[in-house]
Amino acid sequence: QTIYLKDYTPFGYQVDSVHLTFRLSAKSTRVLSRIQFTPLPDAADKRFFLHGEQLQLITAKIDGQSVSPQVTLQGLTCDTPDTAFIWESEVEIDPQGNTALEGLYMSNGMYCTQCEAEGFRKITYYPDRPDVMSTFTVRIEGDEKVLLSNGNPTGSGDGWAEWHDPWPKPAYLFALVAGDLINHPDRFTTASGRDVELNIWVRPGDEGKCAFGMEALKKSMSWDEDVYGLEYDLDIFNIVAVDDFNMGAMENKGLNVFNSSCVLASPETSTDANFERIEAIIAHEYFHNWTGNRITCRDWFQLCLKEGLTVFRDSQFTSDMRSASVKRISDVIDLRGRQFAEDNGPLAHQVRPESFQEINNFYTATIYEKGAEVIGMLKRLVGDDSYAKAAKLYFERHDGQACTIEDWLQVFEDTTGRDLSQFKLWYSQAGTPRVKVTDAYADGTYTLTLEQSTPATPGQPDKDPRVIPVAVGLLGQNGDEVQATQVLELTQAKQSFTFDGLSAKPIASILRQFSAPVILQRDTSNSERAFLLAHDSDPFNRWEAGNALAKDSRIAMVLEGVAPDADYLDALTKLVRDDSLDPAFRALVLSPPSQSDLAQTLYERGHTPDPQAIYDAAETFTQTLAEALTDSLPRLYADTTVQGPYSPDATSTGKRDLNARILSLLTRLDGGDQAARQYGAADNMTLQNAALACLLKADKGEQQSQAFFDQWQGDRLVMDKWFGLQVACAAPDKAASLAEALTRHPLFDMKNPNRFRAVMGALAMNQAGFHYAGGAGYQLLADNLIALDALNPQTTARMCSVFQTWKRYDQPRQDLIRSQLDRIAATKNLSRDTNEMVTRILNG
Ligand code: ARG
Ligand code: ZN
Repeated sequence: QTIYLKDYTPFGYQVDSVHLTFRLSAKSTRVLSRIQFTPLPDAADKRFFLHGEQLQLITAKIDGQSVSPQVTLQGLTCDTPDTAFIWESEVEIDPQGNTALEGLYMSNGMYCTQCEAEGFRKITYYPDRPDVMSTFTVRIEGDEKVLLSNGNPTGSGDGWAEWHDPWPKPAYLFALVAGDLINHPDRFTTASGRDVELNIWVRPGDEGKCAFGMEALKKSMSWDEDVYGLEYDLDIFNIVAVDDFNMGAMENKGLNVFNSSCVLASPETSTDANFERIEAIIAHEYFHNWTGNRITCRDWFQLCLKEGLTVFRDSQFTSDMRSASVKRISDVIDLRGRQFAEDNGPLAHQVRPESFQEINNFYTATIYEKGAEVIGMLKRLVGDDSYAKAAKLYFERHDGQACTIEDWLQVFEDTTGRDLSQFKLWYSQAGTPRVKVTDAYADGTYTLTLEQSTPATPGQPDKDPRVIPVAVGLLGQNGDEVQATQVLELTQAKQSFTFDGLSAKPIASILRQFSAPVILQRDTSNSERAFLLAHDSDPFNRWEAGNALAKDSRIAMVLEGVAPDADYLDALTKLVRDDSLDPAFRALVLSPPSQSDLAQTLYERGHTPDPQAIYDAAETFTQTLAEALTDSLPRLYADTTVQGPYSPDATSTGKRDLNARILSLLTRLDGGDQAARQYGAADNMTLQNAALACLLKADKGEQQSQAFFDQWQGDRLVMDKWFGLQVACAAPDKAASLAEALTRHPLFDMKNPNRFRAVMGALAMNQAGFHYAGGAGYQLLADNLIALDALNPQTTARMCSVFQTWKRYDQPRQDLIRSQLDRIAATKNLSRDTNEMVTRILNG
């Protein structure tokens, strides 16, 4: 069944207040609700329909009188009075049996909830839609030491606790946690003087892994006050770490629930990348308190209203806390790897979709990351001051409301007087625009001609020209900037822009800071790229020039069997040895274009990518680079070794990143001696993990892998690394059989999404291994997806997206993948989630 944006109708009743009582019991929890409804006289739809799934209805009453509603698998309907009334129900649910991890479930002996998007209907009968907002009072009865819900605590005693959330909210922001947890406490005083109690709640044993998350939370709270003028609004803010969780984390009002991998951190168990991600996710969930909670979404088609904006805000935060250019480059690598793949394949969809079957399938890179890009473009078009004014108006005008993209764009139109109707196409047109660039120079005038087009996407054959902000700067032949960055507004299919008063033809640096999520098509020479790599004042485009060189060199190796491009190698070796450059930047320039990015680029240029050939080219390139740097590697390794106690700050992280790249080159020459020494001496996970990766890649890590297992088998999060790293580092011909063996390991647990993803996700990411001729990787993944679907549809459906690139490949591989997709589709009782994904991938 498909749901359409155009069918939106408001609920015919106002919910005045919600009282819930939970009598916790692992297999038979009772949920009692007492809800006041007021019929809305002007409602178009007067049906009293309450969502409810997998609930056992014990009693239902209206104004104290028993009623007998009509109950279906989706919910219930009931005759109701014409004036305000009290609805009461009692239902029984089975948290222990809930392996879907949606609604109320158990993880490691603790109760927890995940309600976004539509999980509240598995807890009690309710109008489970984001535009229905109400205050909640919750009473929890249970033997657990800690009983938590949203809002402020209002009372507790032996075996019970009560909470009241004064801020009206949709049901998807409801949360309950109960368990024998311990807290890492702290406090924060808001700008206006509210004293807030902060806690991170964890299972005993994890209390030493909370300090970093707590600091990140306090930084986020200050940052939102400083930059957006937004303060926290309750007396308490709780974060809980949960081991079994489908996604990263959830912004429930006053009670954020986190996948433990996204909050728990210690130097011994977490890598630099983990620390960085944790800081960003804590910020993301905290920022949702305003962009998502105080102002929420009218319906799920508006998901990007909160997600795009909140990702944009967390990226601003990370840029301020760390290095803005490193953040931008990493975001673009991620965008191209995940969002461009989505936008250019069968799963392409609009930033604001107009239909869906299962909303959980739309928590995608397009909604999140492209949604954030759209906001970045808007900010660039109107300028920073206007952006700040418009955002302020948004929070004033819409506080307490459930809003749409139209509401968001309206505050920009009202504050700037700009007509955003063409800009809005970014929300309604799927697909990645191509921007073709040509240039000319005559008599002191430089002309740039930009031409845009967007390929067809499923259901959208024709596209209109959009507003594309193209940030451009011009460099003179000596490398000086002759024209500072200027934003060209491309609004037509083809448009020319001129720059006067130049004494010679300049070199253009186009799409600085990656000012729009487009694919630039431009015939440039390698020497021009090398020039930009050496001189561009825009760090993003400097990196981009090197990245383009790297890609072209690899592609020539793959297609023509040539050796690595000598000029590029030369530029690279100079750059790596240039100590005046930021180590983080050098690490990024050294990081090879991903094999999946190369496959996509080859495909776009009309070739059929051969994953094995791409892998071989990568091996050859790295070997050649290592040999070219032979004399420098020991010095570089020593110079980039961070001294002193571990700290996850940006400077140390950048240095360790570069150090890890150097180590992997060194391993090619010394057979792993240095990596083995580093492994033996490592006193933090970043160094331990990097050394083990190098050794495994060199097929030399057996002893260290066993040592790693012995040391960390009691730590679930570190064991995820152990599972994942082996598959990620496996040679193409061994990846699938190794992954298969690991699924039979006693510590493999399909019910734990982190563990499942550690093995299956790593297999899918290992391009040459996953696509290894014969299709063993496809078959193994399909076997596991079919088995998991019966337990956890959400995680299964998400993982299906790794098949989205299948049309890139040769006929034998396409046939193999198709037969696996068909096999999944034919599974009896396949979930709606997985069915929708497989169908779209097959037919898109
Ligand atoms: N709102 C959460 C976040 O981005 C994501 C939760 C989505 N969960 C889901 N099951 N769809 O922070
Ligand atoms: Zn979010």
